[in-house]
Amino acid sequence: MSVGIAVPTQISPALANVDAKLLRELAKPAADPDFWSPKARDRSDSAHCIFLYPAMMVPVVQRRLLDAVLTTQSGVKSIYDPFVGSGTSLVSGMHYGLATYGNDINPLAVLISRVRTSREFDGSIRAICEKVVSNAEVDGSSIIETELKNWQKWFKTDVAIELSRLRRAIRNESDLWVRRFLWVTLAETIRLTSNDRTSTYKLHARSAEDIERRNLSPIKVFMELSLKNSTSFHKFRRELHNKNKIDNGAYCANTKIILADARDDLVNMWEGHAPFDLLMTSPPYGDNITTVTYGQHSYLPLNWIDFTDIDPAADINSLRTTQEIDRRGLGGRTIVTASDEEALFSLSPTLKKFADTMSAHPKDGRVRLMRFYRDFSKSLEMLTRQLRPNGYMIWTVGNRNIGGQQVPTDGILGELLEGQRCRLVTTLRRTIHHKRMPDRNASSKTMREEKIVLARKLAD
Ligand SMILES: C[S@@+](CC[C@H](N)C(=O)[O-])C[C@H]1O[C@@H](n2cnc3c(N)ncnc32)[C@H](O)[C@@H]1O
Repeated sequence: MSVGIAVPTQISPALANVDAKLLRELAKPAADPDFWSPKARDRSDSAHCIFLYPAMMVPVVQRRLLDAVLTTQSGVKSIYDPFVGSGTSLVSGMHYGLATYGNDINPLAVLISRVRTSREFDGSIRAICEKVVSNAEVDGSSIIETELKNWQKWFKTDVAIELSRLRRAIRNESDLWVRRFLWVTLAETIRLTSNDRTSTYKLHARSAEDIERRNLSPIKVFMELSLKNSTSFHKFRRELHNKNKIDNGAYCANTKIILADARDDLVNMWEGHAPFDLLMTSPPYGDNITTVTYGQHSYLPLNWIDFTDIDPAADINSLRTTQEIDRRGLGGRTIVTASDEEALFSLSPTLKKFADTMSAHPKDGRVRLMRFYRDFSKSLEMLTRQLRPNGYMIWTVGNRNIGGQQVPTDGILGELLEGQRCRLVTTLRRTIHHKRMPDRNASSKTMREEKIVLARKLAD
């Protein structure tokens, strides 16, 4: 771990003491070099692997960070993740009884997070899964139930028939949380039984021979996954119960996930809940198209899930093309004007230096860089408004490569945060032992290290 104290922004001696205490807490495990980068991993921790969402955080690391912050700062009752992904930061907060809030533009991320952070839980979920499987098994229909026009490219006919039987059986369930749990399990079933290669997040069909050779039954895969997922949910809820975080069968605090863009002013959407006490997140590392294609990875599953069960506002047009969700993400399609660029450079000299000296290859590298930071900066402006004055922020970021040069994401983030009246407290470094990497290509050389940036929002 490296601890680098930054900007001497003025704060009161009392707050400076709290920051100093936090630094001491973070430095305590110095004897264990793997403390922030644990090698062992528990896939069932906090219902972690119900769907293999890209770039998932590590629950135990998030909890260790929360431990340090919560023993340092009093009065933290809520946690906010504006790039919620599959909800790992938030479920980590549930171990401490925090009210949890998050948003994401990807409907699949919203679905998974809603399932994981739900206050309610149906203890008979395993029996329900068995019933759904029996209903799918006796369904004799061969009607294909997907909106995907070219489904034959991505699914063998017998696979599509079984997925359709599962979809009909799921629709018959009356409880929304149960259906959402089943949709997530179906999503993972689709990831494993489609013709898409599982080795990358980008859609990439298997070879014809490989497709021909594979002989998978989605109903059987769904059954196995639903046993695994319900077991890991029971374990998670038992842990919450043992920590006294369950009241009358429900999680003890509020939870809310919304389908919303972090660049938007979400004041109305968070009214009654914000300001939040703590922000904990891991934003995208760059534009989704050339870094991690969260949307493409979600595209096939979303074509089999009832959007109305995700959110009434979920837009089916987000499946217009395989790239649409990624284009809606940070850096997807923004136009950066000369004055935007000037404003960004005045906030972040590190960004200016990188943009001025970056390689001319790939040709669109600079445009993508600036689009991403224009959007990221906008989202920082919006999301810091949702945090209470003096609240801490914990950012996990990766330094992506463009044209063989590493973008100093953590340095740029620190400067942009200072522009939003935040004070950088420290930066930790962690090695990534397990995280699945994005595609290896020229503009997204893989990362083996992450930085954890801790900052504090200053009072006005
Ligand atoms: C690294 S993942 C988040 C991981 C998450 N913090 C966790 O604890 O598991 C980044 C997420 O940012 C989302 N994203 C990209 N652009 C966004 C935007 N403009 N607004 C909200 N979410 C966005 C992606 O869909 C993706 O789910």
